[in-house]
Amino acid sequence: MEASDQERLRKEVDEVLHGKGKQPQGPELFKQNDYSNVRHVIGVVSGKGGVGKSLVCGVLAVELARRGARVGVLDADITGPSIPKMLGLSGARARGVDELIVPVRTKGGIEVMSANLVLEHETDPVIWRGPVVAGAIKQFWEDCAWGELDYLLVDMPPGTGDVPLTVFQSLPVDGIVIVSSPQDLVQMVVGKAVNMANMMQVPVLGLVENMAYVECPDCGRKIYPFGPSRLKETAEAFDIEALGQLPIDPRIAESCDRGTFEDELPAGTLSEAVDTVVSVAEFVDALRGGQEG
Ligand SMILES: Nc1ncnc2c1ncn2[C@@H]1O[C@H](COP(=O)(O)OP(=O)(O)OP(=O)(O)O)[C@@H](O)[C@H]1O
Ligand SMILES: [Mg+2]
Repeated sequence: MEASDQERLRKEVDEVLHGKGKQPQGPELFKQNDYSNVRHVIGVVSGKGGVGKSLVCGVLAVELARRGARVGVLDADITGPSIPKMLGLSGARARGVDELIVPVRTKGGIEVMSANLVLEHETDPVIWRGPVVAGAIKQFWEDCAWGELDYLLVDMPPGTGDVPLTVFQSLPVDGIVIVSSPQDLVQMVVGKAVNMANMMQVPVLGLVENMAYVECPDCGRKIYPFGPSRLKETAEAFDIEALGQLPIDPRIAESCDRGTFEDELPAGTLSEAVDTVVSVAEFVDALRGGQEG
């Protein structure tokens, strides 16, 4: 990211924490319990479904953990959870201790909480109305013993409905990463996510384009099945950062299905997006230090 972009992003974060658009404080914010100290909450959102939010959330979690950070994932997709399977926790169950739920830890040390970790069977459908789903998000924050976390990544359900609204209003979100795929890099869909974040005073860290191209396994040439990338153009249209692309890669899909994603994710995937998350977190820490001091 260029210095001027970094400056712009910092200004936005500063405004949200200090300025006119101060994030909700007090009764609206869910309380953190005595067994959790989450330093930074980062949301992963998209204007529509199936574009690879959960994948990008997984990439950020695994890469941040590989850099030595303490990482958790709150799977806010209550009715369509995909994080546990992807991170090798199929069949695992979260334990309850006293009044609290203990998240399940992956092999690589990522703490995970998801509806699928509390259902009796993974295939049980969650047939809940909006307010109950929002209540589950509250429980995953207030009643979960997250421990010490540098980053809690929130994997959102698709769209701009009840859950993102609850998360934006009630969790101390430092920023969001928006995910899109070339087919729906129609500006309207990305625009919905950007506009929602702006209305809720949540900083947008930038845009990731998933399924951007395919690499020929023989010659390595990049093929753009959906036409040339529109990442840069779309990011510019909404005055947000372009944080990188992911190719369509059958090995990624396979590792998600097999639950081996954490082991098999190539090192350095989406490094610019990971750098941005880290740099915003450092900036927020510096602001907080300034406030405390
Ligand atoms: N770049 C990619 N290469 C190969 N497969 C991918 C890629 N991105 C996503 N997939 C696969 O496509 C499917 C949808 O991805 P994912 O679950 O991350 O999307 P999502 O936006 O979280 O969907 P939902 O809106 O339902 O939550 C998954 O099976 C995933 O493994
Ligand atoms: Mg998902």
